[in-house]
Formats: sequence, structure tokens, C-alpha cells
Amino acid sequence: MSELEGRTFLVTGGNTGIGRATAAGLAGRGGRVWIAARSRAKGEAAVAAGLVASGDGLAGSSFVAVQRWAHDLRVFHGHTPPQCDDMIGRRRDTNEEMPDAPATSHVKRSTQESYDPPAFMVRRSMPWATTAGQGLEFIAYGHSLDAFERMLRRMCGLEDGIVDALFVFSRPTTGGYYWCPPLKNDGRLDLRILGL
Ligand code: HEM
Repeated sequence: MSELEGRTFLVTGGNTGIGRATAAGLAGRGGRVWIAARSRAKGEAAVAAGLVASGDGLAGSSFVAVQRWAHDLRVFHGHTPPQCDDMIGRRRDTNEEMPDAPATSHVKRSTQESYDPPAFMVRRSMPWATTAGQGLEFIAYGHSLDAFERMLRRMCGLEDGIVDALFVFSRPTTGGYYWCPPLKNDGRLDLRILGL
């Protein structure tokens, strides 16, 4: 019998981030999990974008792209607030998306539906800071790394020559690809595909 069999859990915000990981962890240990998410469709879309759908030893796993971006905040703050908003494509004071943002704005470059096929991914980035600098630890989960790679190509201007304005004040300094294995019913990692 699994560790949590017969027990029921309600996980709020269970379609993204820590909530989603918690829900998966509880289910992996045999718990019955109810996910309280803002929308069922959103929850399903996150699972479809972030997890491999099928394949022996592959289903439920996730491919992960991690990049450490280093910001030069002196450059960023050398711009006026409207210029900063234009670089991101979102208004800092209201957090609203700007429909008329320049084509170079990050949000315009990265709108997932504007790719063919759409470049959906599940992002879970974290800020970082040391005495030597600061920036964003970018993390994206996908059923493959394809969406991430296509988006990065467009951000770099390799598709149409338009470079993402993020590069004005930030740049990736390290990066790597990882694979998160699926979980077995007993909550342990399923490493079959690696022959383990
Ligand atoms: C310095 C690094 C980065 C910063 C500061 C940054 C910041 C942001 C911000 C502020 C947003 C809008 C709010 C949101 O939807 O979360 C956003 C959206 C997004 N970013 Fe980034 N981002 C960075 C790097 C990347 C990279 C490397 C990728 C992928 C290759 C990426 C993909 C996306 C996507 C897919 C969206 C949502 C776009 C949509 O509305 O569909 N970002 N980012």
C-alpha cells in the first residue's frame, strides 16, 4: 500500500509552480488530490505544455531549460519609466500588457500563441542576487525543448532580425538542459528509460 493511500488532499494553485509540484508529489505517493486552480483549462494547458504525454518511462517527465541572466541595472535605470515599460511590453505601475508595445519588447517577442506551432512552456523563474550582481534564473519546463529553442532564436533576432529589448540590459551567462524523470506510483523516480 502506498504511503498516502486513502488520504485526500486539496492543493490550491495546483496548476502552476510549487502547487503543481506538491499535487504531483502527493499523487505520486498514492494520495487522492483535488486541485483548486483558477481554471480547469489553464491547469490542463499547463500539464500539456510542461509534461511529456506518452511513452514508456517518458510520460509525466519534463524537459527543463535553465538560464542565468545577469542584469545591468545601471543600464535599465538609465532609461525613463516609459522606456522601461517599452522594453518589457508591460506597464510596471499597473502590470498591464501594452497592446501597442514596440516589436522589440520582450512580451511581443515571446507571445506564445504567435509561434507556429504555438511555443507553450511552463515558466518558473526566480530572481537571484549576490554581492557581485543580480538577475533572473530563468526556468522553463516543456514536453520537449523545442518551444524554448524556437523562442530563444526569435528573441536573438535570428528569425526576423528584431532583437528582444531584454538584451539592452540583460544577458544569459550560463545555461543548461535537464530532464526531470516521471514518478512511479510509490513516489520514487521512474528511471526505466535510463535502464536503472
Ligand atoms: C532577463 C530574462 C527575462 C526576463 C527579465 C523576463 C521577463 C518577463 C516578463 C516581465 C514577462 C511578462 C510577465 C509574465 O508573463 O510573466 C515575461 C513573459 C514571458 N517570457 Fe520572459 N523574461 C526573461 C527571459 C525569458 C526567456 C529566456 C524566455 C524563453 C526563451 C522567456 C519567455 C517568456 C514567455 C513565454 C512569456 C509569456 C509571453 C506570453 O504572454 O505568452 N523569457 N518575461
